[in-house]
Amino acid sequence: MSRLIGICGPSGSGKSTICEYFSIRGISHLSMDSFFKTKEQNKTGDWDNPNALNLGEFIDTLGSIKYKKTDYIFIPEYDRKNKTRTGTKLFRITPDVLVEGFLLFNTIYHSLDKKIFLDLPKEIQKERRRKRYESLGMEFDENYFENVVYPAFEQYILPYKRYAEYVIDASKDFDLVVKKVADIINESKS
Ligand SMILES: Nc1ncnc2c1ncn2[C@@H]1O[C@H](COP(=O)(O)OP(=O)(O)OP(=O)(O)O)[C@@H](O)[C@H]1O
Ligand SMILES: [Mg+2]
Repeated sequence: MSRLIGICGPSGSGKSTICEYFSIRGISHLSMDSFFKTKEQNKTGDWDNPNALNLGEFIDTLGSIKYKKTDYIFIPEYDRKNKTRTGTKLFRITPDVLVEGFLLFNTIYHSLDKKIFLDLPKEIQKERRRKRYESLGMEFDENYFENVVYPAFEQYILPYKRYAEYVIDASKDFDLVVKKVADIINESKS
């Protein structure tokens, strides 16, 4: 059995960056973003609610990881910019696996062995998202943030913060946030 450590929080709270940090240190991570529908599967234009995800496939994958019948599995490779699947990639099932996604607690919190919520005020959410889009050469759409992303945060993410066993202030320095997550991972298994 692998231990699933869930990291939830709004867009820009650092979920992917934190998981990447641990991934290069030997703790695999599964992002819910890999299970986004393609633009052909989701024609609504809204990418910030549970219907934008292939949830059944995500849950099946989590089961394969948790019950670890093999050392490796294939997971989808998703291109967020073009909203398409580009193939699959090999995923190594490590004893601890970080699972991250903005809708994680809304959907599968009961499957997680530990639940961490990254808290971030609205203005910093917006600024980090803007920077990320710009660094990817994508246009930051402030209206989409105000009318879709932030209301979706209030509807689908914030009410589930209470399921978290750990709430971390994600506006703090990255090193500090990472240290808190490391402490949680290293706590004795419950
Ligand atoms: N503690 C921090 N301090 C400053 N910048 C940070 C911190 N954590 C993350 N960032 C930066 O914020 C941006 C967004 O982080 P990241 O992409 O990891 O967020 P996310 O939670 O995965 O968002 P999304 O749900 O949209 O994928 C990145 O540019 C990252 O480098
Ligand atoms: Mg991310």
